[in-house]
Amino acid sequence: MQLAQRAAGISPSPTLAIDAQAKAMKAKGVKVINFSAGEPDFGTPEHIKQAAIDALAAGFTRYTPVAGIPELRQAICASLAARGVTYEPADIVVSCGAKHSLYNAMQVLLNAGDEVILSAPYWVSYYEQVKLAGGVPVVVTTGPDTGFKLTPGLLEAAITPRTRLLILNSPCNPTGAVYSREELAALAEVIVARDLIVISDEIYAALLYDGLTHTSIASLAPEVKERTILIDGVSKTYAMTGWRIGYAAAPRPVAKAMTDLQSHSTSNPISIAQKAAVAALTGSQEAVEMMRREFEQRRNRILAGLRELPGIECNQPGGAFYVFPYIGKLFGRKFRGRVLGNSTDVATALLNEFQVAVVPGVAFGAEPYLRLSYATSMDQIEAGLERLRAFVTELE
Ligand SMILES: Cc1ncc(COP(=O)(O)O)c(C=O)c1O
Repeated sequence: MQLAQRAAGISPSPTLAIDAQAKAMKAKGVKVINFSAGEPDFGTPEHIKQAAIDALAAGFTRYTPVAGIPELRQAICASLAARGVTYEPADIVVSCGAKHSLYNAMQVLLNAGDEVILSAPYWVSYYEQVKLAGGVPVVVTTGPDTGFKLTPGLLEAAITPRTRLLILNSPCNPTGAVYSREELAALAEVIVARDLIVISDEIYAALLYDGLTHTSIASLAPEVKERTILIDGVSKTYAMTGWRIGYAAAPRPVAKAMTDLQSHSTSNPISIAQKAAVAALTGSQEAVEMMRREFEQRRNRILAGLRELPGIECNQPGGAFYVFPYIGKLFGRKFRGRVLGNSTDVATALLNEFQVAVVPGVAFGAEPYLRLSYATSMDQIEAGLERLRAFVTELE
Protein backbone atom coordinates (compact mmCIF):
# COMPACT_ATOMS: atom_id res chain seq x y z
CA MET A 1 0.00 0.00 0.00
CA GLN A 2 1.32 3.43 -0.92
CA LEU A 3 1.91 5.74 2.02
CA ALA A 4 1.27 9.46 1.98
CA GLN A 5 4.33 11.63 1.23
CA ARG A 6 4.09 12.91 4.80
CA ALA A 7 4.69 9.42 6.20
CA ALA A 8 7.27 8.42 3.63
CA GLY A 9 9.48 11.32 4.69
CA ILE A 10 9.58 10.49 8.41
CA SER A 11 12.81 9.15 9.91
CA PRO A 12 12.25 7.08 13.04
CA SER A 13 13.79 8.40 16.26
CA PRO A 14 17.38 7.07 16.30
CA THR A 15 17.66 7.47 20.07
CA LEU A 16 14.58 5.34 20.69
CA ALA A 17 15.86 2.80 18.12
CA ILE A 18 19.24 2.40 19.86
CA ASP A 19 17.59 2.25 23.26
CA ALA A 20 15.26 -0.48 21.95
CA GLN A 21 18.22 -2.43 20.53
CA ALA A 22 20.10 -2.17 23.84
CA LYS A 23 17.02 -3.30 25.77
CA ALA A 24 16.51 -6.23 23.38
CA MET A 25 20.14 -7.32 23.91
CA LYS A 26 19.64 -7.03 27.65
CA ALA A 27 16.49 -9.16 27.46
CA LYS A 28 18.57 -11.88 25.76
CA GLY A 29 20.92 -11.85 28.73
CA VAL A 30 23.69 -9.69 27.19
CA LYS A 31 25.25 -7.40 29.81
CA VAL A 32 24.70 -4.10 28.03
CA ILE A 33 25.75 -0.78 29.52
CA ASN A 34 23.05 1.54 28.29
CA PHE A 35 24.12 5.17 27.87
CA SER A 36 21.44 5.80 25.25
CA ALA A 37 18.35 6.30 27.39
CA GLY A 38 16.80 9.75 27.57
CA GLU A 39 15.06 9.12 30.87
CA PRO A 40 15.88 9.17 34.57
CA ASP A 41 16.64 5.73 36.00
CA PHE A 42 14.84 6.67 39.24
CA GLY A 43 11.32 5.56 40.01
CA THR A 44 8.52 8.12 40.22
CA PRO A 45 8.42 9.47 43.81
CA GLU A 46 5.94 7.66 46.06
CA HIS A 47 3.62 10.59 46.83
CA ILE A 48 3.11 11.12 43.09
CA LYS A 49 2.26 7.47 42.49
CA GLN A 50 -0.11 7.61 45.46
CA ALA A 51 -1.99 10.54 43.93
CA ALA A 52 -2.64 8.44 40.83
CA ILE A 53 -3.75 5.48 42.94
CA ASP A 54 -6.11 7.76 44.88
CA ALA A 55 -7.50 9.22 41.64
CA LEU A 56 -8.14 5.75 40.30
CA ALA A 57 -9.80 4.63 43.53
CA ALA A 58 -11.99 7.73 43.45
CA GLY A 59 -13.12 6.85 39.92
CA PHE A 60 -11.38 9.76 38.22
CA THR A 61 -11.46 7.86 34.96
CA ARG A 62 -13.50 9.95 32.56
CA TYR A 63 -12.71 12.52 29.88
CA THR A 64 -11.37 15.76 31.31
CA PRO A 65 -11.23 19.17 29.62
CA VAL A 66 -9.08 18.79 26.47
CA ALA A 67 -6.37 21.19 27.69
CA GLY A 68 -6.17 19.58 31.13
CA ILE A 69 -7.96 19.83 34.46
CA PRO A 70 -8.12 23.38 35.91
CA GLU A 71 -6.26 22.19 39.02
CA LEU A 72 -3.27 21.10 36.94
CA ARG A 73 -3.24 24.18 34.76
CA GLN A 74 -3.32 26.29 37.92
CA ALA A 75 -0.41 24.30 39.38
CA ILE A 76 1.54 24.81 36.15
CA CYS A 77 0.93 28.59 36.36
CA ALA A 78 2.22 28.59 39.94
CA SER A 79 5.27 26.58 38.92
CA LEU A 80 6.00 28.99 36.05
CA ALA A 81 5.49 32.00 38.31
CA ALA A 82 8.47 30.75 40.32
CA ARG A 83 10.39 31.02 37.05
CA GLY A 84 9.44 34.69 36.85
CA VAL A 85 6.81 34.40 34.17
CA THR A 86 3.09 34.97 34.65
CA TYR A 87 0.45 32.90 32.89
CA GLU A 88 -3.23 32.20 33.46
CA PRO A 89 -4.74 28.69 33.22
CA ALA A 90 -6.33 29.62 29.86
CA ASP A 91 -2.80 30.06 28.44
CA ILE A 92 -1.84 26.48 29.34
CA VAL A 93 -2.40 23.37 27.24
CA VAL A 94 -1.54 20.02 28.83
CA SER A 95 -0.69 17.29 26.33
CA CYS A 96 0.54 13.68 26.21
CA GLY A 97 4.17 14.57 26.95
CA ALA A 98 6.23 17.59 25.97
CA LYS A 99 6.86 15.91 22.63
CA HIS A 100 3.14 16.16 21.93
CA SER A 101 3.09 19.81 23.05
CA LEU A 102 5.90 20.59 20.61
CA TYR A 103 4.09 18.74 17.85
CA ASN A 104 0.86 20.66 18.47
CA ALA A 105 2.71 23.98 18.55
CA MET A 106 4.37 23.39 15.21
CA GLN A 107 1.15 22.19 13.62
CA VAL A 108 -0.69 25.38 14.54
CA LEU A 109 2.16 27.81 13.81
CA LEU A 110 3.73 26.69 10.55
CA ASN A 111 2.57 27.10 6.98
CA ALA A 112 4.09 25.16 4.10
CA GLY A 113 7.56 26.49 3.35
CA ASP A 114 8.00 28.42 6.60
CA GLU A 115 11.60 28.20 7.76
CA VAL A 116 12.45 27.11 11.28
CA ILE A 117 15.89 27.73 12.71
CA LEU A 118 17.33 24.83 14.66
CA SER A 119 20.61 25.13 16.43
CA ALA A 120 22.62 21.90 15.95
CA PRO A 121 23.30 19.74 17.86
CA TYR A 122 19.51 19.57 18.21
CA TRP A 123 17.05 17.12 19.74
CA VAL A 124 16.05 14.74 16.97
CA SER A 125 12.28 15.20 17.06
CA TYR A 126 12.39 18.95 16.32
CA TYR A 127 13.66 18.26 12.83
CA GLU A 128 10.99 15.70 12.02
CA GLN A 129 8.19 17.70 13.62
CA VAL A 130 9.07 20.78 11.56
CA LYS A 131 8.89 18.69 8.39
CA LEU A 132 5.60 17.08 9.47
CA ALA A 133 4.11 20.57 9.82
CA GLY A 134 5.24 21.46 6.29
CA GLY A 135 8.08 23.65 7.55
CA VAL A 136 11.67 23.73 6.37
CA PRO A 137 14.33 23.08 9.01
CA VAL A 138 17.26 25.48 8.71
CA VAL A 139 20.14 24.06 10.71
CA VAL A 140 22.71 26.39 12.26
CA THR A 141 25.74 24.46 13.44
CA THR A 142 27.29 25.39 16.76
CA GLY A 143 30.38 23.90 18.36
CA PRO A 144 32.44 23.86 21.52
CA ASP A 145 33.77 27.37 20.72
CA THR A 146 30.40 28.89 21.72
CA GLY A 147 29.64 26.15 24.26
CA PHE A 148 27.27 24.67 21.64
CA LYS A 149 25.12 27.81 21.89
CA LEU A 150 23.50 29.94 19.24
CA THR A 151 24.79 33.52 19.16
CA PRO A 152 22.99 36.62 17.83
CA GLY A 153 25.43 36.69 14.88
CA LEU A 154 24.73 33.06 13.94
CA LEU A 155 20.99 33.65 14.31
CA GLU A 156 21.00 36.82 12.17
CA ALA A 157 22.95 35.06 9.44
CA ALA A 158 20.33 32.29 9.21
CA ILE A 159 17.28 34.57 8.95
CA THR A 160 15.59 34.94 5.57
CA PRO A 161 12.24 36.49 4.60
CA ARG A 162 10.73 32.98 5.11
CA THR A 163 11.95 32.53 8.68
CA ARG A 164 9.05 32.16 11.09
CA LEU A 165 10.31 30.28 14.11
CA LEU A 166 13.34 29.57 16.24
CA ILE A 167 13.56 26.57 18.54
CA LEU A 168 15.62 27.04 21.69
CA ASN A 169 16.38 24.29 24.16
CA SER A 170 18.07 25.24 27.42
CA PRO A 171 19.34 23.13 29.16
CA CYS A 172 20.01 21.32 25.90
CA ASN A 173 19.64 17.73 24.87
CA PRO A 174 22.18 16.51 23.68
CA THR A 175 24.92 18.96 24.74
CA GLY A 176 23.82 19.99 28.24
CA ALA A 177 24.43 23.63 27.24
CA VAL A 178 22.71 26.20 29.43
CA TYR A 179 22.05 29.73 28.18
CA SER A 180 22.66 32.55 30.63
CA ARG A 181 20.20 35.40 31.07
CA GLU A 182 22.53 37.71 29.13
CA GLU A 183 22.88 35.26 26.25
CA LEU A 184 19.10 34.88 26.03
CA ALA A 185 18.62 38.66 26.19
CA ALA A 186 21.01 39.09 23.25
CA LEU A 187 19.07 36.49 21.23
CA ALA A 188 15.75 38.04 22.28
CA GLU A 189 16.81 41.36 20.75
CA VAL A 190 17.17 39.67 17.37
CA ILE A 191 13.95 37.68 17.85
CA VAL A 192 11.94 40.85 18.52
CA ALA A 193 13.69 42.96 15.88
CA ARG A 194 13.20 40.29 13.20
CA ASP A 195 9.67 39.43 14.31
CA LEU A 196 10.29 35.74 14.99
CA ILE A 197 8.37 33.30 17.16
CA VAL A 198 10.36 31.22 19.61
CA ILE A 199 9.58 27.77 20.93
CA SER A 200 11.47 27.53 24.21
CA ASP A 201 11.83 23.90 25.26
CA GLU A 202 12.58 24.00 29.00
CA ILE A 203 12.02 20.33 29.81
CA TYR A 204 15.39 20.10 31.63
CA ALA A 205 15.01 23.39 33.56
CA ALA A 206 15.23 21.65 36.94
CA LEU A 207 18.40 19.73 36.11
CA LEU A 208 21.17 22.30 36.51
CA TYR A 209 24.65 21.93 38.01
CA ASP A 210 27.55 24.06 39.23
CA GLY A 211 25.09 26.48 40.87
CA LEU A 212 23.66 27.54 37.50
CA THR A 213 20.13 28.92 37.45
CA HIS A 214 17.47 28.65 34.78
CA THR A 215 16.19 31.62 32.82
CA SER A 216 13.12 31.34 30.66
CA ILE A 217 13.38 33.61 27.64
CA ALA A 218 9.68 34.44 28.17
CA SER A 219 10.56 36.09 31.48
CA LEU A 220 12.79 38.72 29.87
CA ALA A 221 10.16 41.20 28.64
CA PRO A 222 6.47 41.29 27.65
CA GLU A 223 7.37 41.65 23.97
CA VAL A 224 9.42 38.44 24.21
CA LYS A 225 6.75 36.54 26.13
CA GLU A 226 4.12 37.43 23.54
CA ARG A 227 6.15 35.63 20.88
CA THR A 228 7.20 32.64 23.02
CA ILE A 229 5.67 29.17 23.29
CA LEU A 230 7.15 27.77 26.49
CA ILE A 231 7.31 23.97 26.67
CA ASP A 232 7.90 21.90 29.79
CA GLY A 233 6.52 18.80 31.49
CA VAL A 234 6.97 16.39 34.35
CA SER A 235 8.86 13.61 32.50
CA LYS A 236 12.45 14.49 33.35
CA THR A 237 12.06 16.54 36.54
CA TYR A 238 9.91 13.99 38.38
CA ALA A 239 11.05 10.74 36.72
CA MET A 240 7.64 10.45 35.03
CA THR A 241 8.52 9.63 31.41
CA GLY A 242 5.87 6.92 31.11
CA TRP A 243 3.04 9.06 32.45
CA ARG A 244 2.99 11.29 29.36
CA ILE A 245 2.26 14.72 30.76
CA GLY A 246 3.80 17.77 29.10
CA TYR A 247 2.51 21.27 28.58
CA ALA A 248 2.74 24.48 26.61
CA ALA A 249 2.31 28.00 27.95
CA ALA A 250 1.48 30.25 25.05
CA PRO A 251 -0.23 33.45 23.93
CA ARG A 252 -3.97 32.81 24.28
CA PRO A 253 -4.84 32.41 20.54
CA VAL A 254 -2.03 29.88 20.14
CA ALA A 255 -3.16 27.98 23.25
CA LYS A 256 -6.69 27.92 21.88
CA ALA A 257 -5.55 26.63 18.47
CA MET A 258 -3.44 23.92 20.13
CA THR A 259 -6.42 22.89 22.25
CA ASP A 260 -8.69 22.74 19.20
CA LEU A 261 -6.13 20.63 17.35
CA GLN A 262 -5.74 18.30 20.32
CA SER A 263 -9.52 17.98 20.59
CA HIS A 264 -9.41 16.12 17.27
CA SER A 265 -6.47 13.86 18.07
CA THR A 266 -5.86 12.63 21.62
CA SER A 267 -8.41 14.78 23.50
CA ASN A 268 -7.26 15.17 27.11
CA PRO A 269 -4.08 13.55 28.42
CA ILE A 270 -4.69 10.60 30.78
CA SER A 271 -6.93 11.64 33.66
CA ILE A 272 -5.06 9.91 36.49
CA ALA A 273 -1.68 11.03 35.13
CA GLN A 274 -2.95 14.60 35.37
CA LYS A 275 -3.73 14.08 39.06
CA ALA A 276 -0.24 12.64 39.53
CA ALA A 277 1.22 15.71 37.81
CA VAL A 278 -0.67 17.98 40.23
CA ALA A 279 0.95 16.10 43.13
CA ALA A 280 4.34 16.39 41.43
CA LEU A 281 4.10 20.16 40.97
CA THR A 282 2.46 21.05 44.29
CA GLY A 283 4.02 18.45 46.61
CA SER A 284 7.45 18.17 48.20
CA GLN A 285 10.34 18.92 45.82
CA GLU A 286 12.82 16.98 47.96
CA ALA A 287 13.05 14.06 45.55
CA VAL A 288 13.78 16.45 42.69
CA GLU A 289 16.75 17.88 44.56
CA MET A 290 17.94 14.39 45.53
CA MET A 291 17.89 13.29 41.87
CA ARG A 292 19.56 16.53 40.73
CA ARG A 293 22.40 16.04 43.21
CA GLU A 294 22.87 12.45 42.14
CA PHE A 295 22.96 13.46 38.47
CA GLU A 296 25.57 16.11 39.23
CA GLN A 297 27.84 13.53 40.88
CA ARG A 298 27.43 11.18 37.95
CA ARG A 299 28.14 13.99 35.50
CA ASN A 300 31.35 14.77 37.36
CA ARG A 301 32.43 11.14 37.24
CA ILE A 302 31.64 10.45 33.60
CA LEU A 303 33.15 13.75 32.48
CA ALA A 304 36.40 13.07 34.35
CA GLY A 305 36.49 9.49 33.02
CA LEU A 306 35.93 10.55 29.41
CA ARG A 307 38.55 13.28 29.60
CA GLU A 308 41.12 10.67 30.67
CA LEU A 309 40.58 8.66 27.49
CA PRO A 310 43.16 9.30 24.77
CA GLY A 311 41.65 11.00 21.71
CA ILE A 312 38.45 12.10 23.45
CA GLU A 313 37.61 15.66 24.46
CA CYS A 314 34.50 16.79 26.28
CA ASN A 315 32.83 20.10 27.08
CA GLN A 316 31.45 20.45 30.60
CA PRO A 317 27.65 20.28 30.35
CA GLY A 318 25.80 22.57 32.78
CA GLY A 319 22.46 20.78 32.76
CA ALA A 320 20.23 17.87 31.59
CA PHE A 321 21.78 14.39 31.89
CA TYR A 322 23.96 13.99 28.83
CA VAL A 323 27.63 14.38 27.94
CA PHE A 324 28.57 15.04 24.34
CA PRO A 325 32.21 14.08 23.79
CA TYR A 326 34.17 15.08 20.67
CA ILE A 327 35.51 11.96 18.93
CA GLY A 328 37.00 13.47 15.75
CA LYS A 329 40.46 12.21 16.68
CA LEU A 330 39.25 8.60 16.50
CA PHE A 331 38.21 8.93 12.87
CA GLY A 332 40.63 7.43 10.37
CA ARG A 333 41.90 4.94 12.95
CA LYS A 334 41.30 1.22 12.63
CA PHE A 335 39.20 -1.01 14.85
CA ARG A 336 39.62 -4.73 14.17
CA GLY A 337 40.64 -4.05 10.60
CA ARG A 338 37.93 -1.48 9.82
CA VAL A 339 38.55 2.24 9.53
CA LEU A 340 36.27 4.36 11.71
CA GLY A 341 34.81 7.00 9.43
CA ASN A 342 31.95 8.56 11.42
CA SER A 343 30.07 8.54 14.71
CA THR A 344 27.80 5.71 13.56
CA ASP A 345 30.87 3.47 12.99
CA VAL A 346 32.01 4.22 16.53
CA ALA A 347 28.57 3.69 18.10
CA THR A 348 28.10 0.43 16.17
CA ALA A 349 31.50 -0.92 17.24
CA LEU A 350 30.80 0.03 20.85
CA LEU A 351 27.41 -1.69 20.89
CA ASN A 352 28.33 -4.83 18.98
CA GLU A 353 31.83 -5.45 20.34
CA PHE A 354 31.75 -3.88 23.83
CA GLN A 355 28.02 -3.92 24.59
CA VAL A 356 28.00 -0.18 25.29
CA ALA A 357 25.00 1.70 23.87
CA VAL A 358 25.64 5.33 22.92
CA VAL A 359 23.94 7.56 20.36
CA PRO A 360 25.99 8.80 17.38
CA GLY A 361 26.20 12.58 17.10
CA VAL A 362 24.86 12.45 13.55
CA ALA A 363 21.43 11.68 15.08
CA PHE A 364 21.53 15.24 16.49
CA GLY A 365 22.80 16.81 13.27
CA ALA A 366 26.36 16.93 14.62
CA GLU A 367 29.61 15.16 13.76
CA PRO A 368 32.04 14.09 15.22
CA TYR A 369 30.38 13.45 18.58
CA LEU A 370 28.65 10.83 20.68
CA ARG A 371 25.89 11.37 23.21
CA LEU A 372 26.06 9.47 26.47
CA SER A 373 23.24 9.69 28.98
CA TYR A 374 24.36 9.43 32.58
CA ALA A 375 20.85 8.67 33.79
CA THR A 376 22.22 5.34 34.91
CA SER A 377 23.89 4.08 38.09
CA MET A 378 27.42 4.99 39.14
CA ASP A 379 28.38 1.29 38.83
CA GLN A 380 27.21 1.24 35.23
CA ILE A 381 29.11 4.45 34.56
CA GLU A 382 32.33 2.93 35.96
CA ALA A 383 31.86 -0.28 33.97
CA GLY A 384 31.03 1.69 30.82
CA LEU A 385 34.11 3.86 31.17
CA GLU A 386 36.25 0.74 31.46
CA ARG A 387 34.81 -0.65 28.27
CA LEU A 388 35.32 2.68 26.50
CA ARG A 389 38.95 2.63 27.62
CA ALA A 390 39.35 -0.90 26.25
CA PHE A 391 37.89 0.32 22.94
CA VAL A 392 40.12 3.37 22.49
CA THR A 393 43.28 1.55 23.58
CA GLU A 394 42.63 -1.18 21.03
CA LEU A 395 42.47 1.30 18.10
CA GLU A 396 45.33 1.17 15.65
C1 LIG B 1 14.72 18.28 24.60
C2 LIG B 1 13.53 17.42 24.83
N1 LIG B 1 12.31 17.95 24.66
C3 LIG B 1 11.21 17.23 24.85
C4 LIG B 1 11.29 15.90 25.23
C5 LIG B 1 9.99 15.13 25.38
O1 LIG B 1 9.63 14.88 26.66
P1 LIG B 1 8.28 14.08 26.99
O2 LIG B 1 8.72 12.76 27.51
O3 LIG B 1 7.58 14.90 28.02
O4 LIG B 1 7.50 13.95 25.74
C6 LIG B 1 12.52 15.30 25.42
C7 LIG B 1 12.61 13.88 25.77
O5 LIG B 1 13.56 13.19 25.49
C8 LIG B 1 13.68 16.09 25.23
O6 LIG B 1 14.90 15.57 25.41
